[in-house]
Amino acid sequence: MLRLVDFKRCALAALLAGLIPCVPAQTATPPETLQVLHWWTSASERKAANVLASRLAEEGVTWQDAAIPGGAGLGAGKVLRSRVLAGQAPEVTQIIGESIKEWAGIGLLLEFDNVAVAGRWAQVLSPTVYALVQHRGHVVAAPLGVHRINTLFYNRPLLERLGLKPPANWAEFAAMAPRLKAAGAVPLAQSAEPWQVATLFENLVLAEGGPALHRELFVRQSEAALADKRLVLALQRLRTLKAWMSPTVQERPWTDLVRQVQRGEAAMLVMGDWAKGELLESGAVIDGGFGCAPAPGTASYHLYSVDTLTMFASDYTHTDAQQKLARIAVQPAVQAEYNAVKGSVSVRRDADLSKMDACARDSWTAFMQGAAQQAPSLAHRMATDETRKDVIVAEIHRYFLDDKATPADAQQRLGAIFRALRLRGGQKAAAINP
Ligand code: GAL
Repeated sequence: MLRLVDFKRCALAALLAGLIPCVPAQTATPPETLQVLHWWTSASERKAANVLASRLAEEGVTWQDAAIPGGAGLGAGKVLRSRVLAGQAPEVTQIIGESIKEWAGIGLLLEFDNVAVAGRWAQVLSPTVYALVQHRGHVVAAPLGVHRINTLFYNRPLLERLGLKPPANWAEFAAMAPRLKAAGAVPLAQSAEPWQVATLFENLVLAEGGPALHRELFVRQSEAALADKRLVLALQRLRTLKAWMSPTVQERPWTDLVRQVQRGEAAMLVMGDWAKGELLESGAVIDGGFGCAPAPGTASYHLYSVDTLTMFASDYTHTDAQQKLARIAVQPAVQAEYNAVKGSVSVRRDADLSKMDACARDSWTAFMQGAAQQAPSLAHRMATDETRKDVIVAEIHRYFLDDKATPADAQQRLGAIFRALRLRGGQKAAAINP
């Protein structure tokens, strides 16, 4: 099948070479193409994207990949903004969490309530996920999977050799860390990339104060919560954990840390469960080479990030194909296949648990318990908008890097940030996330 653009190219080449020009193949309509901008560039992420691309191809739509490297989508966000400003918005974009509302708020996203009604999304999706994909009562995003950010990955043979169990809380971690270090392993793999530091920190806040304190701080940005002793404990813990990381914590992609744990150079890693997807993709086996458990002190909670695809409305010429993709994303079989590869869990309440591995079952069960057990991830835009997330993450990062900074310094600086944000946006965050 020759697409129009291929035909033009072929004709031009033939003309230049003095040959008989190409004849377009007899296709009534060229296949529809959707350009998809996302940040899934690791092996397992690409494989998961391919699950969607192949299903879409079966419906006669070509997935044209526009993958921008950069964990947590920092690069992809920048590329998206410049493309939209240049009038070249992709048809489909991975936009997640509160960012969905920001883009929908300026009227750029396609609403596809019809797809949601036909697929009974209100009934089949987890209520948290269903709320996330809507803006002002209209469905503007297609949900793919729920990631658990409070996951601890560990090198199982290494721990077993030393007679150690994955730590249930951070005190247990501190007790076993010297033995791991003495055995030549870095107890905790960690990167200095700001989003990865924020990932660890929000896990520490969750462990100390549960979802309530996490929401007070990162959703409501409450100054009263900044004075909470449990925040001081989390800040102190972030500092003391540095003793159990590599001597110099460098900015490394998350995939590097996964490999460190896999090879036994590091014993443990706190990371979203896309790390599980990556481990499985590289041939590692759950409860063989690695194990996963809830991050220390967070067993009954679910620190979540929900992956979603949004569609730019533009001139509405791609609406049919965009709606096909939205419909496909939520189909039970696609949910099962995609999430098994990606490491996340189904967004559906009727998911088949028997097809999930133990880590996924645990994640899905904790998430489906409902809002009281759930905390929306700061690092992954679930708690607050892009600007607020960026400044809070930058401050956590600064505190982490500067060993002289005290918890009181961080509390003070975060206080100034919260006040400035309040002046900037009124009570916007509180209104969005009651
Ligand atoms: C998250 C995203 C995941 C994964 C991760 C690492 O924001 O939800 O799908 O890609 O970033 O980049």
